[in-house]
Amino acid sequence: MHILFIGYGKTSQRVAQYLFQQNSNQQQYQITTISRSPKTDVYANHLIQDVHDLHLDSLAPVDLVYVALTPSESSVEAYRQIYVDSVEPIVHALRSHPVQRIMVLSSTRVYGENQGERVDDESPVQPVDEQGQILRDMELKWLAAYPKQAVIIRPSGIYGQSVARLVKMAQNTSSYPKIHYSNRIHIDDLARFLAYLSTLKDVDSSYIVTNNQPLALHEIILWFQQQLDLPQLRLNSQQISGKRLYATRMQQTGFQLQHPVCFNDYIIRLQSHGQNS
Ligand SMILES: NC(=O)c1ccc[n+]([C@@H]2O[C@H](COP(=O)([O-])OP(=O)(O)OC[C@H]3O[C@@H](n4cnc5c(N)ncnc54)[C@H](OP(=O)(O)O)[C@@H]3O)[C@@H](O)[C@H]2O)c1
Repeated sequence: MHILFIGYGKTSQRVAQYLFQQNSNQQQYQITTISRSPKTDVYANHLIQDVHDLHLDSLAPVDLVYVALTPSESSVEAYRQIYVDSVEPIVHALRSHPVQRIMVLSSTRVYGENQGERVDDESPVQPVDEQGQILRDMELKWLAAYPKQAVIIRPSGIYGQSVARLVKMAQNTSSYPKIHYSNRIHIDDLARFLAYLSTLKDVDSSYIVTNNQPLALHEIILWFQQQLDLPQLRLNSQQISGKRLYATRMQQTGFQLQHPVCFNDYIIRLQSHGQNS
């Protein structure tokens, strides 16, 4: 099976590693990657191309594709350029390839709920901001181009590399205005799930990817303040915002998280953070 990664950053690199580890006599993976800068993983063939000007005709037939691209900045223009404007050139470049499945990274930003509502894979998609709408436009373009093959992946709050931002928040937050729900998924669980999807015979057209433990942000900051012996914040109101996400379809696939509790990872990261600071 020939797998093409369009965008070979933090997530794709982990997926490729898991797929490579799955190589066996029954299943042999050939891996090709596309990015703007050179990559060195020995088990893949790395190409440097821009997604808006792709040339894939000389590649061996591609069976499976992962699209994991990130805009260079968070502006509306940059979002549209990388997510929406790239679809047509990619589809065109893949036209002669027998793609059986194409997994596209989107985001739970396409869900507009912001009053602590429960959101799962059956919830209607109603973006409320421009970036969310752009991601939804991208999803629809992929689903139109590959109605049977496209699988939209909506991760939320990818974590696992550094706790520096949360430590800073713990140091700088003396009060918090409201109860704001957010969601997390460890990057290794996300990558393992993406690799796992390649092994399933039948898949849904979209999956939320989260650890099913929505948390109020002030509680996370408080936890860090307790761990670091810092003064504890005061919650200023009982007003609720954010959303509480549940990855119902991911659970139905039988996939098991290895990082169901973010605090277990934060503790380990805090120890190395302390050593590095
Ligand atoms: N962070 C979160 O909490 C969160 C939440 C929801 C969804 N997401 C989504 O999850 C995905 C995360 O991906 P990631 O962490 O693996 O991103 P990443 O590490 O930033 O990698 C992005 C890849 O895209 C490539 N790329 C960007 N523009 C390109 C272009 N014009 N032509 C060719 N390649 C290009 C980059 O190339 P170079 O390697 O050469 O730079 C890089 O390989 C993104 O789609 C993000 O929007 C993130």
